[in-house]
Amino acid sequence: MNSLPVIDGDIYDFPKYYDLVYGSDWKAEFDFLRQLFQRHVEFDVNSLFEPACGTGRLLYRFARAGLQVAGNDLNRKSIQFCNQRLARYGFEPTATVGDMSCFELDSCVDAAFNTINSFRHLNTHALAKSHLECVARAIKPGGIYVLGLHLSPAEGLDTCDAESWSATRGLLTVNSRIWLVERNYPERYETFGMAFDVYTPTKQFQIQDQVSFRTYTVSQIQELVESVEHLEIACCYDFRYEIERPIKLDETVEDVVLILQRT
Ligand SMILES: C[S@@+](CC[C@H](N)C(=O)[O-])C[C@H]1O[C@@H](n2cnc3c(N)ncnc32)[C@H](O)[C@@H]1O
Repeated sequence: MNSLPVIDGDIYDFPKYYDLVYGSDWKAEFDFLRQLFQRHVEFDVNSLFEPACGTGRLLYRFARAGLQVAGNDLNRKSIQFCNQRLARYGFEPTATVGDMSCFELDSCVDAAFNTINSFRHLNTHALAKSHLECVARAIKPGGIYVLGLHLSPAEGLDTCDAESWSATRGLLTVNSRIWLVERNYPERYETFGMAFDVYTPTKQFQIQDQVSFRTYTVSQIQELVESVEHLEIACCYDFRYEIERPIKLDETVEDVVLILQRT
């Protein structure tokens, strides 16, 4: 039973706490993305764009590795956090407030990525398709879009409906939980409760929110990608992030990293 005072709010309005929880486990994702760029792009990847970049927990690390980076996100506070960190490391504040379903870049990038289900925040077919069309226009031919998402399991298979993580930096600890509230496959959505329990020496509280995701089966995501000109599924992996273990996209797949090649 939770005894912390509760704040009902947008979890993404608390970038410091988000970044601590989701930013702690960055290395496997970062290394895997670099391997994907080497394996699936024939030229050197020097410029990157992350739609729905949030706090830019991966972007600033790519900037430190020498790449040109940029991103967008609907959440103003996350973008401010992202840009302040980029500036702190001596880079241009290249993250902008914007909608990933409707954006245009001044010049094309070599690759883009969106790894942890943010794409599923786009809750209609039209928005999701428009997003992929924007991405296709933003990437150079031969470049890739790395898209990571959970898929709806085949009928009869169990799903994981709750997860929790904890992270500590200095005197700040954040325990994060996510749990299923409602799932409706025919209507293509699932709603999750999210909570951050925040502990500092002077205050302890809980932030609670709900987020909604569009659901995708294997065939639904394949059909969507096929409907977009200049993007095709070149290869697939899963969330183990193992470059030597590409997977076959079939009805048993639950979490997938799609390599969408810009043709
Ligand atoms: C799970 S977070 C991921 C953030 C970041 N990509 C990461 O890996 O840490 C999802 C992000 O999607 C953003 N978002 C949701 N809908 C969006 C939209 N239509 N356009 C841009 N950003 C959006 C939220 O504000 C939030 O920062």
